[in-house]
Amino acid sequence: MSKIYASMLSIGAYSPQKRLTNADLEKMVDTSEEWIVKRTGIKERRIAAENEAASDLGVVAAKKAIERAGLNASDIDMLIVATLSGDFLFMPSTAAVLAGKLGMKNIPAFDVLAACSGFIYALSSAKAYVESGMASNVLIVGAEASSRFMDYSDRSVCVLFGDGAGAAVIGATDDPSRAIVDVKISSDGTGWDNLFIEGGSKNPIREGKPHKPFMQMKGNETFKLAVRALTNDVIEILARNNLKASQIVHFIPHQANLRIIKAVGESLGLSDDQVVLTIDRYGNTSAASIPMAINDVYEEGRLKTGDLMLLDAFGGGLTWGSALARFGG
Ligand code: COA
Repeated sequence: MSKIYASMLSIGAYSPQKRLTNADLEKMVDTSEEWIVKRTGIKERRIAAENEAASDLGVVAAKKAIERAGLNASDIDMLIVATLSGDFLFMPSTAAVLAGKLGMKNIPAFDVLAACSGFIYALSSAKAYVESGMASNVLIVGAEASSRFMDYSDRSVCVLFGDGAGAAVIGATDDPSRAIVDVKISSDGTGWDNLFIEGGSKNPIREGKPHKPFMQMKGNETFKLAVRALTNDVIEILARNNLKASQIVHFIPHQANLRIIKAVGESLGLSDDQVVLTIDRYGNTSAASIPMAINDVYEEGRLKTGDLMLLDAFGGGLTWGSALARFGG
């Protein structure tokens, strides 16, 4: 029997209509267009409508990915959602809600909570389930309405994040030229306080008690940790697969900060045309940013079957990871 490989069969994404520009933010908080562009690379981000929760963004992306894989919802036998801004606080999972909206009955559906690294974590799980034969077609979704957890008076965080969703179907192939080559995921929980949202059992939201269900971040510290961890990570994943940076067709990193992306790209000696940037138009969409960026490359007609992609992400936890995948669609 030939070996089963996991393959990214398709990609889809959705970005909400409402735009929040740097000029809008200048009116809300003490910041400037110049500072935001220079320090982050962000020009605008999208904001979910009042009636859109994370699963509502995810459902549009998911339907596109299923259709582009040439499948029906009934062909999906597992759903994994990566989100830090799910529909509910811990229960039910956004994956369960989304499975219901997609008409997927009786399939395993669960969330992974790895903040901005969530899509790489979901990809890692999907690869393992498909290659072990425990699932045939796993739908993985990164969906974020993180604007709901922004304090729009805290300029150190609110200028960075935007909303959106991306999805991919991970299925089986016997063709290694379409396979997900490798996924590497890591964490260091001693750094939890660099990036968090309160309201859990450590400091629950109770009436009369001051609380801040907003994202809080030590930006500068996180920046340095991200550059160091990601630089080491991408060098290691290439080396352990005997691949060279020159073989990467698309470097598709999590879009947190243009300067982090450039630093990691430069450490590998990548040229500008290998590096995919969407941060200017969407900001940091957390677990959705990588699939949204893959989708943009796909819709621009630049993603071909077999193209080698290098993905990387860093986020709260702390968590980080990278992946090498040949597009299988
Ligand atoms: N507008 C204007 N000034 C701002 C600002 C804003 N939105 N936010 C911070 N500043 C100010 C600070 O108050 C500080 O002023 P000071 O020098 O007078 O004290 C100055 O800008 C520099 O702040 P600093 O935090 O050192 O900036 P930075 O260059 O590190 O950029 C981030 C801040 C958040 C953009 C950057 O640190 C970052 O991207 N961090 C990592 C994010 C990340 O990867 N997260 C993990 C995945 S989500």
